[in-house]
Amino acid sequence: MSERLHLNLFTMNSVEHVSPGSWTYPGDQSVRYTDRDYWTEVARTAERGGFDAVFFADVRGIYDVYGDDRDTAVERAVQTPANDPQLVVPAMAEVTDDLGFAVTRSTTYTHPYQLAREFSTLDHLTDGRIAINVVTSYLESAAANLGLEERMDKETRYDRADEFLDVCYALWEDSWEDDAVKRDRSARRYTDPAKVHSIDHEGEHFSVPGPHGCEPSPQRTPVIYQAGSSDRGREFAAANAEAVFASQPTEEGVREYMRDVKSRAADHGRDPESLRFFIGVVPIVGETEAAAQAKHERYTEHVDVEATLALLSGFLDMDLSTLDPDQRVEHIETDAIQGTMNAFTTSQPDRDWTVREVAQFCGLGTTSPTIVGTPEDVADELQYWHEEVGVHGFNIKEVVRPNSLRDFVDLVVPELRERGLVPPADEPTVGSTLRERLLGEGRARLRDDHPARR
Ligand SMILES: Cc1cc2nc3c(=O)[nH]c(=O)nc-3n(C[C@H](O)[C@H](O)[C@H](O)COP(=O)(O)O)c2cc1C
Repeated sequence: MSERLHLNLFTMNSVEHVSPGSWTYPGDQSVRYTDRDYWTEVARTAERGGFDAVFFADVRGIYDVYGDDRDTAVERAVQTPANDPQLVVPAMAEVTDDLGFAVTRSTTYTHPYQLAREFSTLDHLTDGRIAINVVTSYLESAAANLGLEERMDKETRYDRADEFLDVCYALWEDSWEDDAVKRDRSARRYTDPAKVHSIDHEGEHFSVPGPHGCEPSPQRTPVIYQAGSSDRGREFAAANAEAVFASQPTEEGVREYMRDVKSRAADHGRDPESLRFFIGVVPIVGETEAAAQAKHERYTEHVDVEATLALLSGFLDMDLSTLDPDQRVEHIETDAIQGTMNAFTTSQPDRDWTVREVAQFCGLGTTSPTIVGTPEDVADELQYWHEEVGVHGFNIKEVVRPNSLRDFVDLVVPELRERGLVPPADEPTVGSTLRERLLGEGRARLRDDHPARR
């Protein structure tokens, strides 16, 4: 694989995302997450570095599994407080021309008619630069706040997610014909009503007659991102996702995940080569090897192990405070995030991890590999994953904000450009929409082999 690689900045509209404790690093700017200026600076820097998108994680509920209360999560800012990511997108789009925005939304706690409208609006406002990362949520505390007595089990969440997307697809793709909008002032005819259709959806979870309330936007359906890792999650990704996140930390785990999801995609009648696979990485870069190692040591000193355990307890739905730190991690099937569990068990069958080792490893970017080195070292590693393993791109995880992003853009991206892996800064972007950036010129709309189009 020699074509260019894709880059997402993986972040969250909160003090801490996946490097608990790093907000205490001298000079870290994470506490400015409430400022519009912080996000417009992030957008400008990411665009300057040739990133395809800023990818916002998001969570509902509070990490109250650890110690069976919420105090650690609240005190140590474990993805709490967190503001709504969707609402900062228009400000970021305003200061950029090409950068995309992927926003995480849960199908468990919203209604498809409402969500379809929000994303059509965002697609219009960004001129087709929007993606949705579809998740089903995992924290029990979210359910209680959003009208459920208890969290739905994973199967039910994915059943609902399947139907949820069916409704959205019908609203986005089938409700308004391309030439429905006439804007004919003299005839007082904005829209031809014969070209606007009901969707008449009657299902187990939703009843939505339609039509969609928005006129077609540049991409119609936003680019679909997904990160499912359980059996059902992989099936959901294979059926729907255009960009898929393989969260396994090892090469063999990533290879197995891609093989499996591609073969499932083929079973859904999709061209498996049209899926774009991303892995998370945590680059820690210095101008020299010694500078990079010293930075890594300083960052590690700021890892908050207690907060990391609180975060992982939520990911795994298991109170890690009750375990002996030197106890070996045993595989379980979890109703929360299976990928986090698999990362240290099924993905690494030859290694035994203790609870303490997992907490230390996950303090910098959770399950993703850390790449410490010079710009050339980091570029070598990314190039290897891209050309030898076959991943299409990377979710770049920050440790210190905004230093991690700036280091990557100022030190690594020039090296990637030198190697032809990121286009030169002055080269016009492919197409004007995010989907074209990922799939190629002229592909602003969903491919014909996507289930939503068939
Ligand atoms: C890289 C990655 C990012 C994720 N981001 C989020 C997120 O921001 N919010 C969320 O609620 N779930 C997130 N998840 C969870 C899932 O998308 C999924 O809903 C969850 O993993 C449960 O399904 P699974 O066990 O099939 O993976 C993420 C998972 C991975 C691997």
